[in-house]
Amino acid sequence: MLAPLPPFLSNAGRRLWGNAVEDRQSIRPFLAMLQDRGELLRIAEPVDPLFELSAFLSLADRGPALLFDQVEGSPLRVAGNLLAGRDRIAAALGILPGEIAATIHRAIREPIAPIVANHAAVQAVVERHRPLDALPIPTFFEHEQRPYITAGVILARDPESGRGNASFARVGKLDGRTALVGIAPNHHLAQLSRKAAARGEPLPIAVVLGAHPAIQLAACLYLGLGDDELHCAGRLLGEPVELVPAFTIDLAVPAGAEIVLEGTLDAADPVPEGLISEYHGMYEDYGPGIRATFSAMTRRHDAILQVIEPGYHREHIYLGALPIGAGLLHAIGAVLPNVRDVAVTEAGAGRTDIVVQIDAPRPGQARRAIHAAFAAVSMVKRVTVVDGDIDPWDPIMVDWARCNRMKLERDLILLPHSGTDRSEPMEESGLVTKIGMDATAKPGDRAEGVARALPPAAVLERARAKLRALTAGAWLA
Ligand SMILES: Cc1cc2nc3c(=O)[nH]c(=O)nc-3n(C[C@H](O)[C@H](O)[C@H](O)COP(=O)(O)O)c2cc1C
Repeated sequence: MLAPLPPFLSNAGRRLWGNAVEDRQSIRPFLAMLQDRGELLRIAEPVDPLFELSAFLSLADRGPALLFDQVEGSPLRVAGNLLAGRDRIAAALGILPGEIAATIHRAIREPIAPIVANHAAVQAVVERHRPLDALPIPTFFEHEQRPYITAGVILARDPESGRGNASFARVGKLDGRTALVGIAPNHHLAQLSRKAAARGEPLPIAVVLGAHPAIQLAACLYLGLGDDELHCAGRLLGEPVELVPAFTIDLAVPAGAEIVLEGTLDAADPVPEGLISEYHGMYEDYGPGIRATFSAMTRRHDAILQVIEPGYHREHIYLGALPIGAGLLHAIGAVLPNVRDVAVTEAGAGRTDIVVQIDAPRPGQARRAIHAAFAAVSMVKRVTVVDGDIDPWDPIMVDWARCNRMKLERDLILLPHSGTDRSEPMEESGLVTKIGMDATAKPGDRAEGVARALPPAAVLERARAKLRALTAGAWLA
């Protein structure tokens, strides 16, 4: 039998916490929504944070979100597999999956600045002694060497301009006060830590756990250095993010989060990391990470530690993929106004393989889209361009377009020895061969034309309406 519902998931609890901004801007309304949709499975028995919790999450990858009531060695609960897919992320933003790209795109164009609050649920409990020991941090994979915080949005400020940055990076626990943070050298957080080190200073950081999904998505955006992702989060939320000053560092943190670690990053103090899982699902050996030293942990009274199963798992894939897709829509849209959507596929782990959908492409536009995509995001390795009648998120229809709308000698572009990221599985000295595929229909290619053989549109529409009335019709195209 299930244990009684924790107050935040019960109707009575919902009435108690539902109205304050700090609760609206938390992960809790989303957890409640998952429960209402039957997509939250509570694990009541004790779970070992050493591999076992990770095993549950790995197996639930295509299943429900998991809420672990008892994690050995800690009074805190743990939640994972929350934002695992387009449906979940759309639901968290209160929109439909088809609206995600346009919604995030608008957040890039029309940001809303945060405001400062003077009270925060996330500061109800303060731990200054050994801040990391107070958290049930899981060890995920067999050949990784330590427990990792994987769902931490790291806030920092540019030591020169004072402008904010928010991004995910893994935090590997070393002891109760210190950790290593693994950051790709080209990411803004790594650049900011190097800037601070060049001035002989550590970089103040706040690791934010369990913030509203809008804040988590915004943290994955590829923006310019100095563009603060929390402003984009404000637009996604439809209101300014509420921040509250941290206790031990000069940063402000989201008032509605579950847990915040306050500390500093010291780029002058590298720490060997060993093997680490990457989004493509294999291990990488990146050499040293950067040392972080934590001065405090603050949390809600009944805090829940959010974890994201790293490696090739859906939450890791889609949280990265959808903001990358929206950023590409922004970049490609700057040169092609008729671009409609950009899918970042699961096969490419939400990073390296994209499908660009263009309405009524004119000759040459598909190639421009391919070059614009490569220029915008260096991790992108394969670009396929399809027409408006092909859903870019449907891998079978995209492959249909590749099979039936391409003349390979004309429509396939190979770009040998192109610059890429260190995370690319096939890279050699920072280079990889990239491929572009123009899978749009070219009317002159076939004497019989390129139209699909289907009943007339008006008859199809009438039949669709009648079938809808007869069946729930999940299968109905
Ligand atoms: C769940 C998750 C975990 C991530 N972990 C890391 C990481 O450990 N190191 C890293 O460099 N990037 C990581 N990323 C990617 C960065 O957060 C992302 O590229 C971000 O846009 C970088 O922002 P920045 O350039 O503003 O620092 C992760 C992304 C997600 C969704």
